Amino acid sequence: MNTDIINMIGPALRGLLADNSEILKLVSFSPETGKPAKALTVEIPKDLAVPAVIEILRNALAEYSKAHGAKPTTVIVSGVGTFTVADSPVKTGRVAGTVAVVTGAAQGFGLEISRQFAAAGAHVVLLDMNQAGATAAAQDLCKQFGSGRAIGLASNVTDPASMAAAIHETVKAFGGFDVFVANAGVLKAGSVKTQSAADFDFVTAVNYKGYFVSVQKAAPILATQHLANPEYWSDIIQINSKSGLEGSNKNGAYAGSKFGGIGLTQSFAMELVEDNIKVNSICPGNFFDGPLWSDPKNGLFVQYLATGKVPGAKTVQDVQKFYEAKVPMRRGCMAQDVMKAIFYLMEQNYETGQAVPVTGGQVMLS
Ligand SMILES: NC(=O)c1ccc[n+]([C@@H]2O[C@H](COP(=O)([O-])OP(=O)(O)OC[C@H]3O[C@@H](n4cnc5c(N)ncnc54)[C@H](O)[C@@H]3O)[C@@H](O)[C@H]2O)c1
Repeated sequence: MNTDIINMIGPALRGLLADNSEILKLVSFSPETGKPAKALTVEIPKDLAVPAVIEILRNALAEYSKAHGAKPTTVIVSGVGTFTVADSPVKTGRVAGTVAVVTGAAQGFGLEISRQFAAAGAHVVLLDMNQAGATAAAQDLCKQFGSGRAIGLASNVTDPASMAAAIHETVKAFGGFDVFVANAGVLKAGSVKTQSAADFDFVTAVNYKGYFVSVQKAAPILATQHLANPEYWSDIIQINSKSGLEGSNKNGAYAGSKFGGIGLTQSFAMELVEDNIKVNSICPGNFFDGPLWSDPKNGLFVQYLATGKVPGAKTVQDVQKFYEAKVPMRRGCMAQDVMKAIFYLMEQNYETGQAVPVTGGQVMLS
């Protein structure tokens, strides 16, 4: 299997062939090895570590450039396949030409974040265990923003093999990525007195372990890009919650998993800074417009009305007003509020290991 070597060469070429440390190249992989004119052919011995692979590529690219007066756009690696190098055609937008990966992207915050990344000029990889949803959403984004702007892939963040496969497909499509948004999350509310251990495990597996698995599979790609292009920085951003900053009544599994996520963010930030990877969390308030709250069948508004959780509420609107009244700014969090925090963290050169609240004042840091 050439998985490991492809995962090294794609990100290495993105970084080595870039014109600067801001926007790396797009690199696509094909197992075919025809002999297009002007291709650079490289031999890479088996079982080398990333620094050695980068060194071989760096030298081969330098020789090629000397001989041809230009950098190659096709790199054939013997026994592996062909890497095609290009500039993104997208030239305008706040993140023009970058590659963003978003987990849990088939609906809710993840879908909106993906859409806004595409609108701001990024190429977007939508990952979700709902493969049909991720693929359909990616097709929509391609229709709206142009072909090649989005792909949708199956991936379960709790399963290391599934995440590894999704990251590998991402490398084959784009060579790597610049920002990884760990958004996939689930909520099963329940009292500590009655919640089943199975429900607790489910929430913990997706929100807490899933974040660990995601970072473990994503970080090596980002690190390789940095090794190839030493001034380059990239981002891992976890979508946490206001429940990661203060407890949540009868919702301990969720709040605990989100508090834990902030511990992971702080620890990963300390460790991955050597790879020029910033790691931060965003802690949104309630996204009342998203399906979690507003789904007409299973949304939390309908559930809370049915279970009488809000005293005196007679309609779904009464329940919504009750929750909006808890927010000093009197409205729920929206995807564009979260997106502003994502852009802030990507553009900020002096921030890592932080948990940024986006709660309309409902949770304030002390
Ligand atoms: N909705 C809110 O009010 C709110 C508030 C604060 C934070 N958040 C956080 O934002 C994130 C997104 O929440 P949302 O409300 O958009 O959720 P959602 O339920 O609308 O969407 C979650 C998506 O994640 C996917 N998913 C679930 N388990 C997965 C797994 N194991 N692997 C891969 N994908 C998986 C689902 O298929 C779905 O598409 C979560 O981390 C959540 O905790 C949500």
